[in-house]
Amino acid sequence: MAVTILGIESSCDDTSAAIVRDTLLLSNVMASQDVHKAYGGVVPELASRAHQQNIVPVVARALQLANVRKEEIDAIAFTRGPGLLGSLLVGTSFAKGLALALDRPLIEVNHLTGHVLSHFVRLPQGGPSPPDFPFLCLLVSGGHTQILQVHSPLHYAVLGQTIDDAVGEAFDKGAKIMGLEYPGGPIIDKYAQEGDAKAFRFAKPRIAGLDYSFSGIKTSLLYFLRDRLSDDPDFITQHLADLCACWQSHLIDILLDKLIKAAAQTRIRRVALAGGVSANSGLRARMQAEAAQRGWELFLPPIRFTTDNAAMIAVAGFYKYKEGLISTLEVAPLSRAREFA
Ligand code: KG4
Ligand code: ZN
Repeated sequence: MAVTILGIESSCDDTSAAIVRDTLLLSNVMASQDVHKAYGGVVPELASRAHQQNIVPVVARALQLANVRKEEIDAIAFTRGPGLLGSLLVGTSFAKGLALALDRPLIEVNHLTGHVLSHFVRLPQGGPSPPDFPFLCLLVSGGHTQILQVHSPLHYAVLGQTIDDAVGEAFDKGAKIMGLEYPGGPIIDKYAQEGDAKAFRFAKPRIAGLDYSFSGIKTSLLYFLRDRLSDDPDFITQHLADLCACWQSHLIDILLDKLIKAAAQTRIRRVALAGGVSANSGLRARMQAEAAQRGWELFLPPIRFTTDNAAMIAVAGFYKYKEGLISTLEVAPLSRAREFA
């Protein structure tokens, strides 16, 4: 019998609820928070307050769009972490309350597992098939940068990860240094399309193995611009498109160097991209070019599942439900990335 799962995501600044039947998506509702724009980054206290306002109408809308009554839900999956504690608390408390009221199992989901499983969300109108196992997943978001070897829906090995900032932060902080709004990733992406990616060169970080580092290069951008601005105060406005194109291509080069190494070391030729930064058009194009050249089978997530969404959480909940991985009502959110499936 098919199972119906309600998924809830509230780890950062998007409140989202989704209904899946097995892995088939019936609805996916998102409420984004514009309130943070004025502050140049997500303000945790404002985020949790907005989640509190959004969660009830977002869940009600997800049920309505899926044409599912709440009594028909078999289990409730929610993001336990990592993320902002105050934000996670809203989703966790709501999920617990509903599980108790409906007497249904509660399933905690690791946000990162959700991003990987965004490739397993089936759409009613059809779409690409999910990757076979094993595959490599380059998980790139505002909080994380990892190369994962994915053995099964819930079993991964971390081959490499950032030792400091995530690549999404490098996009956003680079944008901030250039005087652009938050979140800067999509704005850099837009300007980069008009710019020359070879106009300026930045030094690459030297990090051993498959790990990443993005904090030192941000400082190098800061010093580069400080020097140029002392000669020409209009340097950034005059060269904005080229600067964005070069910064973006620099970040993509760093990401791809290690991913290519990981594919060579593991001899795995199935490669997937996930997380907020996987919406980047330059990264997607570069992945397609590398895949064509290296004979990889490539899996790019649909744009609507790159950003934080509850569809991926509901699908992760489905796989955990099948394995009987149920949480207790004592479960508490975890703000940091930890090894929990
Ligand atoms: O996965 P996500 O929505 O939230 C986290 O779990 O962190 O990722 C958000 C990040 C932000 O840093 C944002 O700037 C970045 O994804 N991002 C992009 C693009 N769209 C979103 N970065 C580069 N290019 C884009 N088109
Ligand atoms: Zn995310």
